[in-house]
Amino acid sequence: MIKIAPSLLSSDFTRLGEEVRAAESAGADMLHIDVMDGHFVPNITIGPFIVEAVRKTTKLPLDVHLMIEEPDRYIKDFAAAGADFLTVHVEASIHLNRTVSLIRENSVKPGVSLNPATPVCSLDFILPDVDLVLVMSVNPGFGGQGFISGSLDKIKAIKENAAKRGLKTLIAVDGGVRPENSRDIAGAGADILVMGAAFFGSGDYKALMGEMRKLLDTR
Ligand code: DX5
Ligand code: ZN
Repeated sequence: MIKIAPSLLSSDFTRLGEEVRAAESAGADMLHIDVMDGHFVPNITIGPFIVEAVRKTTKLPLDVHLMIEEPDRYIKDFAAAGADFLTVHVEASIHLNRTVSLIRENSVKPGVSLNPATPVCSLDFILPDVDLVLVMSVNPGFGGQGFISGSLDKIKAIKENAAKRGLKTLIAVDGGVRPENSRDIAGAGADILVMGAAFFGSGDYKALMGEMRKLLDTR
């Protein structure tokens, strides 16, 4: 079953708790939380305190996407805040194997993310060590951007590579996902669709989830 992960970046932060509960009761499978540092990406968002607050509000798995430089410095804090997945960018970690090990040592599932221009081969020597690959289908930093269509080939290539190696790595896709392109993305091999603007901008989260389930034929 394809999972839907609403990205809280597009939620109404003045009512964060209500938004989290509404996404959960609409049937979201997990929540995606975007952490930005103003260095790796040109935007600043949230830190471990907010992740901790979200953790207290929901039982859904929290997929925390670290768009930050030197991620090792913050792994412990985000693990303690209650992240279930911690995803770091291959472009942001000099010693990626060490970073991924550190995430696992903190009892969190490690994920790695690729920017749109980063080649699939950058995963060759880390794929067996991670639970999730997050394919960026926009340049990270902002919600509401358009899906970069070349991402479909990238998803396919990662899926094939993982299958060939007998790995069950989850593939998540992040950026510009909406009902209109969701079938193509799922068809390419995605397991998790992150949805920010399309989810929180829909006005009716239950209706949106119903539409997605119908489109993806998963329930
Ligand atoms: C972008 C973030 C995304 C963002 C996706 O840098 O990583 O998670 O919230 O939002 P949409 O679905 O609006 O592109
Ligand atoms: Zn994200």
